Amino acid sequence: MAHYRQIGTVPPKRHTQHRGPDGNLYYEELMGEEGFSSDSSLLYHRGVPSAIVASEVWQLPDQSRTPNHPLKPRHLKLHDLTTKTCPVEGRRMVLGNNDVRIGYVVTGTDPSPLYRNAIGDECVYVEEGTGTVETVFGALSYRQGDYVIVPRATTHRWLPAKPSRLYAIEANSHIAPPKRYLSKYGQLLEHAPYCERDLYGPTELLSGAAEDVEVLVKHRTAAGIVGTRMTYASHPFDVVGWDGCLYPYTFNVDDYMPITGKVHQPPPVHQVFEGWNFVVCNFLPRKVDYHELSIPVPYYHSNVDSDEVMFYVGGDYEARKGSGIGIGSISLHPGGFAHGPQPSAIEASLGVDYFEESAVMVDTFAPLDLGEGGLASEDPAYAWTWAGRERGSDGGPAVFSNS
Ligand SMILES: [Fe+2]
Repeated sequence: MAHYRQIGTVPPKRHTQHRGPDGNLYYEELMGEEGFSSDSSLLYHRGVPSAIVASEVWQLPDQSRTPNHPLKPRHLKLHDLTTKTCPVEGRRMVLGNNDVRIGYVVTGTDPSPLYRNAIGDECVYVEEGTGTVETVFGALSYRQGDYVIVPRATTHRWLPAKPSRLYAIEANSHIAPPKRYLSKYGQLLEHAPYCERDLYGPTELLSGAAEDVEVLVKHRTAAGIVGTRMTYASHPFDVVGWDGCLYPYTFNVDDYMPITGKVHQPPPVHQVFEGWNFVVCNFLPRKVDYHELSIPVPYYHSNVDSDEVMFYVGGDYEARKGSGIGIGSISLHPGGFAHGPQPSAIEASLGVDYFEESAVMVDTFAPLDLGEGGLASEDPAYAWTWAGRERGSDGGPAVFSNS
């Protein structure tokens, strides 16, 4: 994120003395990506940011993965999934590979523990709910439709004001706007469907004064993903000021300006973010194709290099009765399998000029395995619905206008 911000106090020159009213030096911390060769921020702490007094094992929720074998399209009903209510520890892993994992949690209103993901950035889509994410950079408010982007190793905690449905995309890499949206110096270009004005970073610093504060750290070893519970001598939220281009932020889907065309536009026009070996797109209410002979629903497509994960978050799915797909559903359409609408939906879409549906899509360039939450929420009949069997007289394939 090349958009510079500054909050609180920082010295006029970096790496120079910055003192509090009592004359004591603040402790400068550089938080930067790719060694010292990419975006970074400088934070000024009252306490020593590396002062830990304990480090113990934190037992993570189940991270096991089951290959999609035999190969099938899958329908996962996330609203049928029971989760614990902690926004961090309650996440159940739905899908995952070695590049990205998708978890889902329905929270209560209790705050999460302090937490940081040392594996990669997190992009948490807020399906429902409101609240605050407190971070070492300050507080962010969140609401329905937000993507909350939390950079790798950012200590933070979730404080839902209302019970929240959180769809957590956890990368093994950084998550950023697609490069083609950016100028060579990082500004969002005119053809991008959003711009810097739509990104909301922290505005107020936090003041944590407690001692011996626990922070849960998700990280990797040769044996896989593990957790550690670190205890800090002073509260990590003791920053008096920071500046730079690395920080958490939110972006709401309402601020995404869909790109439409005379004929059907392919999913890359709906892209919002990318990480290593995956992309995030959102399909939002919009006018659709206006050629006099256009077909608004997609053609059948076989994305030979991708597994496609659609998370259906809004709209009217009555027209898709029989497929089983509804709000809160995920469809997984894996590479090596062609998918698209049923013939009746093609005819029904002719002349339609507006789509109401909303969905968040993650396309991965490596096959996805099923997490335990995916296995627990699967509708096993879905794979056969294109053939019109197993679902009775109204049975048809799963169809979403953009899937
Ligand atoms: Fe698709």
